[in-house]
Amino acid sequence: MSEPWKPPSRIRNVAADSAAMPLPTRYAFAITQLLVLARRSGITSPTVSYAATAVTGPMVTALRSDRTLEVLRPFRRIAAAIRWRGDQPSLWEENHVEIVAYGVLADEQPLLRDAFDREFGAAHELRCLGLFLNRDTAPTAAGHEVVLSSVNDTLDAEVLRALAKGGTRMIAQRATGYNNIDLAVAEELGLTVARVSFYSPYSVAEFAWALALAVDRRIVRAAHRTREFDFRLDGLMGRDLHGRTAGVVGTGKIGAAFARIAHGFGMRLLGWDVAENPDCLALGMQYVERERLFAEADLVSLHVPLLPGTHHLVDARALALMKDDALLVNSSRGGLVDTDALLETLRAGRLSGVGLDVYEEEAGVFFLDKSLEVMTDERLARLMTFNNVLVTSHQAYFTRDAVGQIAETTVGNVVDYFAGRTSDNTLVPRRETGIGR
Ligand SMILES: NC(=O)c1ccc[n+]([C@@H]2O[C@H](COP(=O)([O-])OP(=O)(O)OC[C@H]3O[C@@H](n4cnc5c(N)ncnc54)[C@H](O)[C@@H]3O)[C@@H](O)[C@H]2O)c1
Repeated sequence: MSEPWKPPSRIRNVAADSAAMPLPTRYAFAITQLLVLARRSGITSPTVSYAATAVTGPMVTALRSDRTLEVLRPFRRIAAAIRWRGDQPSLWEENHVEIVAYGVLADEQPLLRDAFDREFGAAHELRCLGLFLNRDTAPTAAGHEVVLSSVNDTLDAEVLRALAKGGTRMIAQRATGYNNIDLAVAEELGLTVARVSFYSPYSVAEFAWALALAVDRRIVRAAHRTREFDFRLDGLMGRDLHGRTAGVVGTGKIGAAFARIAHGFGMRLLGWDVAENPDCLALGMQYVERERLFAEADLVSLHVPLLPGTHHLVDARALALMKDDALLVNSSRGGLVDTDALLETLRAGRLSGVGLDVYEEEAGVFFLDKSLEVMTDERLARLMTFNNVLVTSHQAYFTRDAVGQIAETTVGNVVDYFAGRTSDNTLVPRRETGIGR
């Protein structure tokens, strides 16, 4: 039997050579040196594993022995992540990063993984978790430099502090809106924050239209009836939207896409925004005061972000201005509508239809199966009792196209973070930490 291969002395000295380096870098350095040599000598992988153990042995024994296995884990990942340029291993992989994504939906996961693998291969590790980030779950982020958050994660001061303490340095929000993140605290803690400022606005605009038409034409009620073989039309009468007035509150990307569809229906367009959009003006949209929009529109659709200035934009006053038979659609953020005032309006028999894809208190409810629990949110339960109200659980963005773009952009935001770059997606830029990535 031949002697097991032993690393030459140059390799043995790696531990000493790299003593001044931080531990993960030392592992990377050792393994890359070893793999260069192994490749040059045509040595096969089981032998390399043996040799790797021999090389890192001195390092490992220098550490607490009960942590040996744990200590070896990143080493193995680094070995798997080496990318070769000729005989030179790429040094980029020296900094293996653990990334965790919260609130990942079953249909989203393959798209997120695809985008991640295409960019990073095995260089970094992604954990996809179905649970949402909040004060109870924040400890699970410990050791993950990058957190990929979703709209219904809570990143308030307490959670952000827990993340920073656990070693998180970057938050990549997989959404356009970021009202769930306390940016001031993130900045104070030196956390980089990015979002996805652009993805298919058509996903949301088309869904807002699906809600508008469903409530106007009583589609859900009709579908329930025909399933029961009840083919009567009583109570299903809707209205033509052609020739009626659409009030678009917020005429950015989604609002403009919504307005284009309204234009296709032959509707008159009223808009309200802090800035006029030339694309909407070209459609013939007239920008008016908010009060006038609420008073004249037959269909009001909300597309402004949730900000202190837009919180409860649709309050008792705005609802009182609206026509008794108006339609209201909210596919932006729940906090734009004062739910109590809306319930009061509906109780009074006003508004012909309401489509809500978002709800003020949706965190902890939307995206989850609550069907076997007692519904403790009285307001949400009450909303469901109105047969002219349709509630969906924040699914307007949920098309293959939009979710794919969100995944790609999120991964791009992580690449930018590694490179210390900022972009249109940056909310809090990276603070120089001296980490050479
Ligand atoms: N339901 C969903 O799945 C979903 C998905 C994506 C986005 N959204 C929501 O849609 C919103 C709009 O997205 P977008 O891509 O069109 O954003 P956008 O930035 O392109 O447009 C927002 C518009 O709101 C206007 N605005 C901002 N602050 C305002 C204020 N205080 N008063 C009046 N107008 C103001 C801006 O001038 C801009 O025209 C997002 O903020 C998000 O909350 C919902």
